[in-house]
Amino acid sequence: MKLSGHTVLVTGGSAGVGLALTQEFYKKDNRVIICGRSPEKLARAQEEMSEIETIQCDLAKDDDIKNLLNVISTKFPELSLLVNNAGVQLNYNFTEVEPEQAFRDIDWETQVNFNAMVKLTTLCLPLLRKHTESAIVNVSSGLALTPKSSAPIYCATKAAVHIFSQSLRYQMEDDAPNVAVFEAILPMVDTDMTKGRGKGKISSKQVADEVLNALSKNNYEINVGKVKLLVWINRFAPWLAKRILRGS
Ligand SMILES: NC(=O)c1ccc[n+]([C@@H]2O[C@H](COP(=O)([O-])OP(=O)(O)OC[C@H]3O[C@@H](n4cnc5c(N)ncnc54)[C@H](OP(=O)(O)O)[C@@H]3O)[C@@H](O)[C@H]2O)c1
Repeated sequence: MKLSGHTVLVTGGSAGVGLALTQEFYKKDNRVIICGRSPEKLARAQEEMSEIETIQCDLAKDDDIKNLLNVISTKFPELSLLVNNAGVQLNYNFTEVEPEQAFRDIDWETQVNFNAMVKLTTLCLPLLRKHTESAIVNVSSGLALTPKSSAPIYCATKAAVHIFSQSLRYQMEDDAPNVAVFEAILPMVDTDMTKGRGKGKISSKQVADEVLNALSKNNYEINVGKVKLLVWINRFAPWLAKRILRGS
């Protein structure tokens, strides 16, 4: 697909991977809209890129998702690229969790990482379908393929994103072939999410470069960085993939 001339919505475009994707889309003459919870982070992104649009939105709240869509439909009805990037990660030990707190955490993490993505996709599809070429880019993780021990809900939501992306792609191929469905499967990236943990992290800029390159080639399942190797290990020696990622 072409990489310029789109109106792009990047959820979580104010930091980390989303910010790097925003910077690359912005450089390539796209109209970029970003959303996130923190007004300070949104303002910082806008200071750097004066022509981006920012919308404060907490994807944990359905009303905020609906409001986001209202703003997009009213001010940017030409939306042609939806990047479902925002995500959060919590650690749980299910032998220790306190049920009341766990209920709240599980609902929150599932909503932000998966339900919000599906809801926003549902709401944006009528706009995306109007174009001859449009796309949805869902951000998932190598942990969708084989999980780690410390963040079971995170890994499960990313597996859900992985399967949802495949199934949605089938539907679009059959009924709306002008809407491409991409999935960016990321390795560990050096962002706030991974602060203070992990080795061998890649930069958000490398993620953005690989993702845009894959979009230009219509490579729908984008195995970023070491995920390329993980896919092979997982296919030929799944026990080894499990061993590598279990304690990561
Ligand atoms: N970092 C990694 O190693 C890694 C690996 C694999 C996959 N990923 C995936 O890559 C994506 C981006 O992660 P990242 O590492 O860039 O994270 P990050 O640095 O923590 O940035 C997350 C972005 O999402 C926004 N956000 C978080 N919760 C939100 C909510 N409830 N509503 C709206 N916006 C929200 C944040 O802004 P506010 O805080 O202001 O809301 C921020 O802009 C996520 O889907 C993550 O799962 C990351």
